[in-house]
Amino acid sequence: MNVSVIGAGKMGLPVACQFSRNGATVTACDVNTAVVEAINAGRCPIDEPGIPELLGELVRGGSLSATTDTPTAVRRSDVVVVLVPVLLTAEHDADTATIEAVTRAIAAGLRPGTLVSYETTLPVGTTRRLAALLAEGSGLRAGVDFDVAFSPERVKSQFVLERLTENVKVVGGLTPEAAARAEAFYGRYLGAPVRNVGTLEAAELVKLAGMVYRDVNIALANEMGRYAERVGVDLHAILDAVNSDGEAALLLPGIGVGGHCTPVYPYFLLRDAERRGMAAELTAVGRRINDAQACWALDRVEREWGPLAGAGVLVLGLGFRPEVKEHVSSTAFLLAPEAERRGARVLLDDPLYSDDELRAHGFTPGSLRDGQLPEVLILNTAHAAYGALDFASLAQRGVRVVFDGRALWSAAAVRAAGLVYIGVGRPAAQQDWQPVGAATLAQARA
Ligand SMILES: NC(=O)c1ccc[n+]([C@@H]2O[C@H](COP(=O)([O-])OP(=O)(O)OC[C@H]3O[C@@H](n4cnc5c(N)ncnc54)[C@H](O)[C@@H]3O)[C@@H](O)[C@H]2O)c1
Repeated sequence: MNVSVIGAGKMGLPVACQFSRNGATVTACDVNTAVVEAINAGRCPIDEPGIPELLGELVRGGSLSATTDTPTAVRRSDVVVVLVPVLLTAEHDADTATIEAVTRAIAAGLRPGTLVSYETTLPVGTTRRLAALLAEGSGLRAGVDFDVAFSPERVKSQFVLERLTENVKVVGGLTPEAAARAEAFYGRYLGAPVRNVGTLEAAELVKLAGMVYRDVNIALANEMGRYAERVGVDLHAILDAVNSDGEAALLLPGIGVGGHCTPVYPYFLLRDAERRGMAAELTAVGRRINDAQACWALDRVEREWGPLAGAGVLVLGLGFRPEVKEHVSSTAFLLAPEAERRGARVLLDDPLYSDDELRAHGFTPGSLRDGQLPEVLILNTAHAAYGALDFASLAQRGVRVVFDGRALWSAAAVRAAGLVYIGVGRPAAQQDWQPVGAATLAQARA
């Protein structure tokens, strides 16, 4: 079995390794020559547990190699798997330029008998359009001369190797034969349980529905958190109880949702639904609530501590997940400009990023390490380094209030150090809130 994996990134490379370790001869294709050179030298260009060792072994054994020449690799392949990103345009629509370019490169090398399986998350209907592009570019007939499948990648970075074989691998095809062929391929070469859901569109919707569910679930948790704050209940303390009825599966409230998946893919559904004359209202509201959490956090700081105008703020964490150096759609990008708009001087600390990297992403680097600190600390990422802070020392160095955006700290420990503790989903120490003004209410609703 000869397999090409197009896109040797955080997902494509582990998937290529997995096919290869299960007996396929795999060529990883990437436009980035540094990535290709690293793979061919047995060096792993991504940060993913278990992959560096596996990659070295497979490259030395001759079953995995890399190239920038996609058409040539495709020409030698029985199966072509696509894992290049589809991100958002400025208008929050799917930007399919890269995957269309990849599809044209595949078409240039496509032979009769090949199965092309798209794993990149796509708006419903896109794979069928890409199949037509493959046919147009190759002169072959889709579903007759070659097969097309969609099989969403649903694993999580940093857990990829274990999840690749544990998660159910969903497949759908342009034809029932293509779906059955994808089912057999993934069962044998991925080694995961496979569920054939039939059509391309069904498989595309599986991924989108899962992502929208997650985003809306978090939005609901955020709304419950806002309410819990008002009624004097710590939502984190009761979450287990909420989820103990065998029905609810409420996620955690937080300061916002980042990453290249959860805040992105709901728009694939939203925009496509609009084009089809339907308003995906809950999906849209979920996005709005989650993106408004940053404002909500700053509102609480202003209400429970004081105005941000003239104050110093240190945001802790750029990464959208703990211990992960990835910042796409990080809530830090919402927090910093909004705090600045309110007149604060904003610094950002993240132990995984150098000062130059932080500057390159538009932030002024700050540090918890030494010296005088700003009055306001806002926790955006629950990095382990932030888990065991000495709050008494922070108070001595000028901190007055902390906003715990990830329920990482003990409110009692922070308050014992003389600091104001404000936690997402947690009530203020004294429930003496004034009724909120019309502007705040309008913002919360927006
Ligand atoms: N990263 C995740 O946590 C995750 C989780 C689940 C699913 N996914 C899916 O995987 C897809 C890929 O994500 P990723 O994290 O691997 O992205 P990535 O940015 O880590 O890697 C993408 C790779 O594709 C390469 N590439 C770009 N254009 C190309 C072209 N024209 N030809 C060949 N290679 C090209 C890039 O150089 C890069 O190495 C996402 O769009 C998503 O649908 C990602």
